Amino acid sequence: MLIENISQLAQVEYAPLKKLRKGVEMLHLNVIKNAFLCIEDDKIAAFGPMNELSDELIYAQAGERIDATGKMVFPSFVDSHTHLVYPASREAEYIDKIKGLSYEEIAKRGGGILNSARKMEIVSEEELLKDALNRLDEIISFGTGAVEIKSGYGLTLESELKMLRVIKKLKELSPLTIKSTFLGAHAIPLEYRGKQERYVDLIIHEMLPRVAEEQLADYIDVFCDTGFFTVKDTERILEAGLKYGLRGKIHANELDYSGGIQVGVKYNALSVDHLEFTGDEEIETLLDSETMPTILPGAAFFLGMRYAPVRKMIDAGLPVAMASDFNPGSSPSGNMQLILSMACILYKMLPEEAINATTLNSAYAMELSEKMGSIAIGKKANLFITKEIPSIAFLPYYYGSNKVETVILNGKVIS
Ligand code: NIG
Ligand code: FE
Repeated sequence: MLIENISQLAQVEYAPLKKLRKGVEMLHLNVIKNAFLCIEDDKIAAFGPMNELSDELIYAQAGERIDATGKMVFPSFVDSHTHLVYPASREAEYIDKIKGLSYEEIAKRGGGILNSARKMEIVSEEELLKDALNRLDEIISFGTGAVEIKSGYGLTLESELKMLRVIKKLKELSPLTIKSTFLGAHAIPLEYRGKQERYVDLIIHEMLPRVAEEQLADYIDVFCDTGFFTVKDTERILEAGLKYGLRGKIHANELDYSGGIQVGVKYNALSVDHLEFTGDEEIETLLDSETMPTILPGAAFFLGMRYAPVRKMIDAGLPVAMASDFNPGSSPSGNMQLILSMACILYKMLPEEAINATTLNSAYAMELSEKMGSIAIGKKANLFITKEIPSIAFLPYYYGSNKVETVILNGKVIS
């Protein structure tokens, strides 16, 4: 396939490829104006300015030819944190929140995650799968090319396995690249209140061995925060996960300075996510680590919570990734173009920084740096062609509408 006359080909990388961009590097975004791009099978085979598009190259591209005059090409978004397998929406709680109840108050009275867990028990695998596939179609149309999906609305052995089996089916059925995360420690079931170490025992001794045996997860997650799991609980779970080769991708510091960031780094977590409560000490810890700080603007926006100090983090030299957190309770949207806009509007990131956060850096947070997150020879041809837009900044600026016109996944036009 040959895409020609691309007005701007964005996030181009030449060897040696970068695994991530941090600090001031996050402003780097290589762009080729008036460009072409060749795809062979499912990989990016060549690209460059139009004046380097030789007759031989055109001849070699016997397949499809797409004229992208006035349009731009970007690597697909990588959404490294979602909970998009869920049994039902939760707009009643949304109304409660509008009326003034906090996320923690709703959780305390058995709503929130426990509300989803009750419904998870009765929903069929078929229904879960059908709904999740529809959500995947939706995020594909907004430009996502890879997504991480968590369990965590089960909270019993059977229900957690049900969710993870659905995610495994999604991997087989969807053109998206999908990674799966076991999040048994998402909330404390009511019957374990006051003795939550017993629930942690259940996760470690009953759930985790089954999850590992059926190879249902790529990573392990814990909601390490006030009112949820403690640092001690998190240590136990991360340590157990590592024995099965599962690295952590944890929920940390959303509700308080929970110690989640430190414990994540201690166990070499791939990412620590949310991070609304990040101070100097947490930044110091992260600077010295291989853990990707990941911000979830949708959740802070939707819940009306404080925003993570992203400017301070980047200015201190950290990399930052951003993901949607697509879930029914705190972020009912998987639209990564909206995340791009929020990055700029709410977190004062420049468009280039926001694009790095949602492509290259979020690919790192799913161990996909070698395959995705930029336009580079040999990387997977997961990308999108925009509608006619005047500039790169227009992408976050013109918020709320879909700027994606054509989606290419695995080298094939999907929509
Ligand atoms: O990432 N913070 C914890 N978990 C989810 C919320 C899930 C829910 O409320 O259903 C989150 O925001
Ligand atoms: Fe989450």
